[in-house]
Amino acid sequence: MTRTYHIATYGCQMNEHDTERIAGLLEADGMAPAGELESADVVVLNTCCIRENADNKLYAKLGDLKVLKTHNPDMQIAVGGCLAQKDRDEIRERAGHVDVVFGTHNVHRAAQLLDDARQYGPQVEVLEAAARDDAEAFPSALPARREVDYSAWVTIQVGCDNNCAFCIVPAVRGPELSRPFDDLVAEAQRLADDGVSEITLLGQNVNSYGRDLTLAARKAGEDTRVRPLFGDLLRAVGAVDGIERVRYTSPHPKDLRPETIEAMAETPSVCEHLHLPVQSGSDQVLAAMHRGYTGERYLERVNLAKATIDDLAITTDIIVGFPGETDADHRATMELVAEVGYDAAYIFIYSPRPGTEAASLANTVPHEVAVERLEELRRVVQRSSAHNHQERIGRTERVLVEGLSKRDPSQQTGRTGQYKLIHFPVTEAGPLRPGTYADVQVVDAARQYLVGELVEVVSRPKTRVRIPVVSV
Ligand code: SAH
Ligand code: SF4
Ligand code: F3S
Repeated sequence: MTRTYHIATYGCQMNEHDTERIAGLLEADGMAPAGELESADVVVLNTCCIRENADNKLYAKLGDLKVLKTHNPDMQIAVGGCLAQKDRDEIRERAGHVDVVFGTHNVHRAAQLLDDARQYGPQVEVLEAAARDDAEAFPSALPARREVDYSAWVTIQVGCDNNCAFCIVPAVRGPELSRPFDDLVAEAQRLADDGVSEITLLGQNVNSYGRDLTLAARKAGEDTRVRPLFGDLLRAVGAVDGIERVRYTSPHPKDLRPETIEAMAETPSVCEHLHLPVQSGSDQVLAAMHRGYTGERYLERVNLAKATIDDLAITTDIIVGFPGETDADHRATMELVAEVGYDAAYIFIYSPRPGTEAASLANTVPHEVAVERLEELRRVVQRSSAHNHQERIGRTERVLVEGLSKRDPSQQTGRTGQYKLIHFPVTEAGPLRPGTYADVQVVDAARQYLVGELVEVVSRPKTRVRIPVVSV
């Protein structure tokens, strides 16, 4: 009988992308997706450790799975991702029923480790970040099972060379390693040939893309005067025939160069959306975080981007309650956030991560104060996002259709170039296939989404796909 699998993914797009590869490997090994977790023979948890609640969530989930496993002893449980990379041994100590633990540089081994575990017992395989080579970092030859046919992630860089005081990522994912420029353009072309029209470039610090390649070339005595920059990559991927939309995440404000902003402005397929994590608006806090910019410098870059890129939407990440953050620091963040007028923001309460510099800082901020600051900031962002949404009313937006709305199947759902969710009624001709591009006129706006009316279909997807229900 065919064994079935279920993968639960936590954390960022890096993990979602790895999940596609794990799914591809398991299917190449003869497995099929399980309808639901409870009936799966193999459950893979692809974990995150960016904040403490991510750890707690994992152990709670593992507790639930222990109960399932007592009813079905043949069930296998594998834990991969960042928490597995970080806490390799602790996981099996705290949850002895786990069959496989694999690190972020061992994704390509997932299927083999599950086979080995059936024969020989529990397997733990976690390669040190510094010991990985390109094959482990970019297993592009691995089969991938993409969630949707028209949109794909492409990892341009793994790891991070920054040392933000609060962040565990460099310790887990290792130093920055960029994927060669030509490989990336070739992959974009392959994806386009396969029917993909939207590509999202992934990296922890995309604007430093290629720095390591240049250093390596220089060491080898090669001419490195014409070093490809991230902006060049945007232009090259954006020029691939069949690629209609290019998105990327995340740029670091200190490395956001005018060349990137120009490339965004001059490449029609690069979307008018900039996710630029600010973290704080206070210069003291930014310095303690080692972010490498001040509030003023951040605003300068945002203003340059707004002035150069037509109709730009800006989103961000903010941390409240970093150790030592005073009321005055918080006010500085409130002011900066109001001045930028963000379209959306992810606001996090600072969570100490053992092993990071900030974890040993004194002057911790009481939880209630952090919650209050988060709420205050949320209100400021809600005001600007509601205002920005209202401004869209009357405009016609190019929309990439994603499927039917879960709440109301008489509505279909898609994303505008600014990455705003938009709902519009299904017409008599029936629902549009996901991957369709359509012009939709905005007729109303809510805080989280826009409401529109179909004007016309612009292009239909090349691939044949069923119409999924999209959660909104
Ligand atoms: N490389 C990206 C961020 C990746 S982590 C960048 O530098 O832009 C995603 C977000 O998680 C960060 O932007 C930050 O806001 C948040 N984050 C990271 N570590 C955190 C911590 N210890 N506590 C709370 N939030 C954190
Ligand atoms: Fe973490 Fe900073 Fe690197 Fe982003 S840039 S992954 S926040 S260390
Ligand atoms: Fe989490 Fe790892 Fe991403 S820690 S945020 S899954 S890089």
